[in-house]
Amino acid sequence: DKGNYEHFMLKEIYEQPISIEDTFRGRVSLDHSKIFLGGIIDVLPKLSQARRIIIAACGTSWHAGIVGEYLFEEFARTPVEVEYASEFRYRNPVINEDDVIIAISQSGETADTLAAIKMAKEQGATILGICNVAGSSIPRETHAGVYTHAGVEIGVASTKAFTSQVTVLTMMAFLLGKTKGHIKDVDYKELIGELIQVPDKIRTILQSEEQIKAIAETYKDANNALYLGRGYLFPVALEGALKLKEISYIHAEGYPAAEMKHGPIALIDENMPVFVLATKDKSYEKIVSNIQEVKARNGKVIAIVTKGDDVIKKMADHVIEVPDCHEAIAPLLTSIPLQFVSYHIAVMRGCNVDQPRNLAKSVTVE
Ligand code: M6R
Repeated sequence: DKGNYEHFMLKEIYEQPISIEDTFRGRVSLDHSKIFLGGIIDVLPKLSQARRIIIAACGTSWHAGIVGEYLFEEFARTPVEVEYASEFRYRNPVINEDDVIIAISQSGETADTLAAIKMAKEQGATILGICNVAGSSIPRETHAGVYTHAGVEIGVASTKAFTSQVTVLTMMAFLLGKTKGHIKDVDYKELIGELIQVPDKIRTILQSEEQIKAIAETYKDANNALYLGRGYLFPVALEGALKLKEISYIHAEGYPAAEMKHGPIALIDENMPVFVLATKDKSYEKIVSNIQEVKARNGKVIAIVTKGDDVIKKMADHVIEVPDCHEAIAPLLTSIPLQFVSYHIAVMRGCNVDQPRNLAKSVTVE
């Protein structure tokens, strides 16, 4: 039931404060400075000793996987590889018994992801799942895992499932970092505090829908779009571009911002909207220069910035503000405005938002 919403996608965008709270439920406590993930408690020693984590997924879940890579390496100091499940399963990869494979899948039915974990399991690796649909095929094949509890997602374009996957990965990375002794008690408490504030911060961002709709109106006729981000926001750029492609059929590319000068910069002219993820973090100064590079070539810049940022406001054509947060949390906030952009552009172009052409909610063929 869509309730008062015109599309499931819009309803699911609005559900995110609640779906993320559901992902947390019973798992995070600020008072006790504790993260408790019952589904992986038995494999936590194995995970702590893992020489390497391999994340296997497809599409949006693969993007969540890259956020996971940055988080696990930063906080838990475990090397991570993120693999397209389809490539991984067919290329005879090197898998060891001290590798932990994490399959990420909303549906739990994606054929390539399922086949990838079956193969890795046969080779002796420990297999974990981060899935949304309880009792689906992937969780049944894993040794352990964490459900996202985002609730049923109907829109083919994933929104709340993505933010719940990222929430689980964030909890796992913090927990693993703490278990391995890489996060100090005071920092752990602060990180948990940051995580707990996410739903309220998203509520604030949801109030920008009308402003974002006006931006969508300006760019709805574009033939191409570029999405740029660095660090934790690079995968958010990939996800923003995928969302636009899927539902509005506009060609879009996501890039790590510094890679722009190695090719895509040639595409920039006054007809190119460039969405830049530019919240305050350690690469802020660098992303500001990237915005200047785009403006110098007359590209149109739509920047997602930290509330109160006056520097980028003077340079960009549009800014969309999100509340201040720890940089590791920023993917959860900055992906929301990009969901709105794609949604409104698709609606304005008369596209079938919830059931885009040629796509299925879960891809059970290889
Ligand atoms: O169910 P899964 O998470 O395994 O699905 C993976 C992809 O098929 C999926 O994320 C797809 O890219 C979505 N349409 C993205 O919006």
